[in-house]
Amino acid sequence: MSRIGIGVLASGRGTNFEALVRAVRRGDTNGEIRLLVANVPDAPVLKRAEAEHVPGVTISHRDFSKRADFEQALIAELKKHDVGLVCLAGFMRVLSPVFVKAFENRIMNIHPSLLPAFAGLQGMQVHEAVLAAGVKVAGCTVHFVTGDVDAGPIIIQHAIPVHEGDNAETLSLRVLVEEHLAYAEAVKLFCENRLTVEGRRVRVLGNDERRTMNEGTTRG
Ligand code: GAR
Repeated sequence: MSRIGIGVLASGRGTNFEALVRAVRRGDTNGEIRLLVANVPDAPVLKRAEAEHVPGVTISHRDFSKRADFEQALIAELKKHDVGLVCLAGFMRVLSPVFVKAFENRIMNIHPSLLPAFAGLQGMQVHEAVLAAGVKVAGCTVHFVTGDVDAGPIIIQHAIPVHEGDNAETLSLRVLVEEHLAYAEAVKLFCENRLTVEGRRVRVLGNDERRTMNEGTTRG
């Protein structure tokens, strides 16, 4: 079975990108990280890509007057590298239905909360909202991306307890550990063809019932 080409889109720090690269390189994931695209020039994630010898390019949304043109540039770059799975890893732009359609059920996102709670927020805002709400359990979600922000079918969630003395920083660091694990797990399952989208639900197939390569990911 040929390896699935993976393209990562990121905007900032890049720890999820780095964790994905390392997890995929460990060898038990049938994928290959082919490309990192940053939409922010000088984002630290670009340095991580360089250090990991992954081709990194900047496509800044600011260089385009229309979102559609920015997205066409992203699509062209991803297709050029024969990408079959797009991973959003701290990518702070909302993608339109046109982009989503170009990689239907082939775009994943990591969000630092247990969705659907605390959807629509980004980064530290999420952890601040979690603490302000007084919830006792926090975590992260890996989901397929649809046209609705943070609302696509959920692949994996990892939960952790919120501690009495937590602030946004301490909580974010503990959630981040789980993000790195959950994202690697979701990508591995995708690359094994074990994820099937059935309406709003993702079914994780057992090893023996995995789809054949060309069957597609959607069942209805
Ligand atoms: C991560 O916590 C990720 O879940 C979050 O941004 C951070 C990026 O960190 N994403 C969102 O909030 C998306 N709404 P990283 O650049 O170190 O991977």
